[in-house]
Amino acid sequence: MARAFDPGYCDPRFADLCETAPDGATYPPTDFRVEWGPVFHRGRLDGTARVLVIGQDPAVHETVCRRILCGEAGRRVQGLLAKLGITRSYVMINASLYSWLKRDEMPFMARPAITAYRNRWIDAIRAISDIRAVLLLGDAAKTAWDEYAKAAHPPAGLTVRTVIHPTEPHKDAQGDPATEAKLVTRMLEDWNQAVAAVRPRLDGVRDTEASEPAYGVKFRDGELLAIPSADLPAGLPDWMGAEDGWALRTGPGGLRWQITVTVPAAHRITA
Ligand code: URA
Repeated sequence: MARAFDPGYCDPRFADLCETAPDGATYPPTDFRVEWGPVFHRGRLDGTARVLVIGQDPAVHETVCRRILCGEAGRRVQGLLAKLGITRSYVMINASLYSWLKRDEMPFMARPAITAYRNRWIDAIRAISDIRAVLLLGDAAKTAWDEYAKAAHPPAGLTVRTVIHPTEPHKDAQGDPATEAKLVTRMLEDWNQAVAAVRPRLDGVRDTEASEPAYGVKFRDGELLAIPSADLPAGLPDWMGAEDGWALRTGPGGLRWQITVTVPAAHRITA
């Protein structure tokens, strides 16, 4: 059976953005994992996106897949988009092209050179796509949009919503499972409110009208969705989109120089 894949940066606008991506001169190597290269986007670059999602920075799965939001955060976001009736018509970028090293890189997100390049991405996306809603995942994304809005004056009718970042509960809980469970419940309440506010603004452009139940107090089966193969470069195995937890930062250099990828148990071939 034919298997869809993301053809990449074919449109000259996006090819140019890849060719001119800022490097360590703009993203200091003391704060960003520039040695793994920039990770640009996920989703439609062909003008069919109707929802723009802005995330924070690429993590370890993204570094391997070369598309953003394809680890646990991405699977949660894919489920959130499904509740909006959007299964295909989205495009995602991050506030930061490179992975944050120390987790306190927020001040960089409003720096002029970082902002100017990111704004070129948003302009290029908006130039070819009738974006109806913008979902901002957490504070870095909000900063990215605020900086864009200052420079570009997007139309007042555009629906823009900031939601709690999908992995904020994990980070804020600092290893305490009870706290994390409470923070997940709070996040899902926030996401339910966002769905109620944003979904009606997508009338006429939703990919599906299937009604999705509201989130409960924790994620249920089916609320973490696989990353579609159409979002990933050609040749990536299905398990890279279907599961997370298969890539870890390990080894020498601490959390910097080495990533270990392990095929998940269900996909191992032992013959
Ligand atoms: N991965 C991303 O690409 N962005 C996020 O915000 C989180 C994880």
